[in-house]
Amino acid sequence: MERRVATKIWTVDKNVENNVESYLSCTQIVDAASLLREGEVVAFPTETVYGLGANALSNEAVEKIFWAKGRPSDNPLIVHIGSKEQLSMVASQLPEKAERVIEAFWPGPLTVILPRTDRVASLVTAGLDSVGVRMPDHPMALALLREAGIPIAAPSANRSGRPSPTTASHVQADLDGRIAGILDGGLTGVGVESTVLDVTAEPPMILRPGGITREQLEAVIGPVAVDPSFEVGAVETPRSPGMKYTHYAPEGEMWLVAGEFSQVRQKKAEMLRQARQHGLKTGVLTTDEHLDFWRDVADADVVFSVGSSARLEEVAQRLYAVLRQFDDANVQFIVSEAFSRDGLGMAVMNRLEKAAGGRILSV
Ligand code: TXA
Ligand code: MG
Repeated sequence: MERRVATKIWTVDKNVENNVESYLSCTQIVDAASLLREGEVVAFPTETVYGLGANALSNEAVEKIFWAKGRPSDNPLIVHIGSKEQLSMVASQLPEKAERVIEAFWPGPLTVILPRTDRVASLVTAGLDSVGVRMPDHPMALALLREAGIPIAAPSANRSGRPSPTTASHVQADLDGRIAGILDGGLTGVGVESTVLDVTAEPPMILRPGGITREQLEAVIGPVAVDPSFEVGAVETPRSPGMKYTHYAPEGEMWLVAGEFSQVRQKKAEMLRQARQHGLKTGVLTTDEHLDFWRDVADADVVFSVGSSARLEEVAQRLYAVLRQFDDANVQFIVSEAFSRDGLGMAVMNRLEKAAGGRILSV
């Protein structure tokens, strides 16, 4: 029989001011932090997505993360810290470029790969001699991390194979009964995970595109390479172990169609018609600009917008929730909008391409 634990949901009073100092004196934060110190697993909001945290110095605690998620343990986890002083507990060296990006972007959605100390639990790094570290830019997360006083390993708080959670109810839907508690911080801001940057390489290399863009990094440390494995049509083996997993694909078959709008529109309409003829429930992932058009297309059963294509921040923030909506509606065939790869577009397109499992059409 499956092990079940009672999952606490901590909701912080709306009157508490939204800053680290105020959260530090909240009983919810104090309770969650003491459970973390006792080796339990707790979900918490960050500025990117909800994380599933456990003591990064304890294999026994980290093992519970893999169990709760149903995730293979050969994929290293990101370690979260609440202050720069905690960095020396997990990283043995700080290369000069690492120091510069940390200064510029922490707290924030940037994970830096650094040489590890012996204190980091081997399950966190999957046996590698490096460790990914970040300081999240979320007052509840920072208060929790400071109160806990230990580095916290935290992957996204979803069941393996589901989209990353951007609300506490997404976490609850996936992990209720499998973790000690969920700290509810409302909707997360960035919506896609942090950028993973390997500063031990020269030039530094983006192993996963995320909340901090290549352009932002280059403004601080000069040229930054991008792992060729997630360039379109690439066949190389990814360097970041996590990138080899099909993180999430909707239940339905999803297609990305790119090109000039009138041709794209025609191609998608044809694809939807054929899917419908095969008896499939169809869906369209679109933008506010194209919402009215797709609503009028009879072969599209459900139409969801991720926001305006002119505001990629909004698209990133809503993407995972919209992908969950397709599954909740049991959609079997989905056509999706494609976006520019500039700035945050690189992270958005990377997640969409994964969701489409390589089904990308240019017309
Ligand atoms: O935004 C985020 O980063 C979220 C929130 C919760 O903070 N966390 C997150 O963690 O996405 P996780 O564990 O799901 O992602 C870890 C990513 C994977 O792609 C993994 O391969 C890479 O970081 N990674 C971690 N440690 C690494 C290492 N030592 N070397 C190379 N890649 C590493
Ligand atoms: Mg994840």
